[in-house]
Amino acid sequence: MYLISSHEMLKDAQRRGYAVPAFNIHNLETVQVVARTAARMGSPVILAGTPGTCRHAGVEYLVSICQAAAQQYRIPLVLHLDHHEDEQDIRRKVEAGIHSAMIDASHCPFEENIAKVRSVVTFCHRMGASVEAELGQLGGQEDDLVVDAGHAHLTDPLKAAEFVLRTGIDSLAVAIGTAHGLYKEEPHLDFARLAAIRQQVDIPLVLHGASGVPEVDVRRCIGLGICKVNVATELKIAFADAMKAFLGSHPDASDPRQYLVPAMAAMEEVVAAKICMCMSDGKL
Ligand code: 13P
Repeated sequence: MYLISSHEMLKDAQRRGYAVPAFNIHNLETVQVVARTAARMGSPVILAGTPGTCRHAGVEYLVSICQAAAQQYRIPLVLHLDHHEDEQDIRRKVEAGIHSAMIDASHCPFEENIAKVRSVVTFCHRMGASVEAELGQLGGQEDDLVVDAGHAHLTDPLKAAEFVLRTGIDSLAVAIGTAHGLYKEEPHLDFARLAAIRQQVDIPLVLHGASGVPEVDVRRCIGLGICKVNVATELKIAFADAMKAFLGSHPDASDPRQYLVPAMAAMEEVVAAKICMCMSDGKL
């Protein structure tokens, strides 16, 4: 098995009414957790890496590790570039073996967003890679990407239709009230807006900022056309909390093969729960 683009995976989710969970990974252990849980539950999954993760781990390492995981578990895996903003950077990483990319020019004016995305689509499609882009802008923090509440704005359904038509993207990330990172209060999602976007746009829709969003809300979004659900913060917290607890109760521990085990187990629980939430189990 091998690394594939997300095009067919998301189309299948759209046809069959579930969502593919996209889990942010950072290193060998986090890739292993997602791949083994996906294999155990028979779920399609996307492994997502931000520019910061690529800097931390190295793209060649990430591609090799993810390829090895696909082979070991005999499942197709998508390694996806999350929130990348630089076309040259995307090109280099696609040439290094990644077949799925998000070009995030959501901070740019509409015409500039279209021009940047269109250019990435032309390159990526020639290389057999799929492209996600965002219209509207989520608030919150995802690695180096920080958007304060004043700059966050929701997706305009009519503009979404024009955006999809003129860019040729494979999937559209929508801003409907979610945010990256932890919520200070329960998020209020604009379901009517999502339904209006769905009416205008027939490609798979993507929900960012799913950590902390109640399952009932995510399920409702899936019913309204969301085909990919991005989760990062909840995984990091589970991993870190379990490692802190282990090291707190074993102050002399120094072997990563010991202190990483409870961290991986805690992350695996979250991954499994999100797979159930997305109803992607058994869909491989
Ligand atoms: P959370 O960190 O809020 O789960 O968001 C993840 C995400 O949207 C990655 O692009």
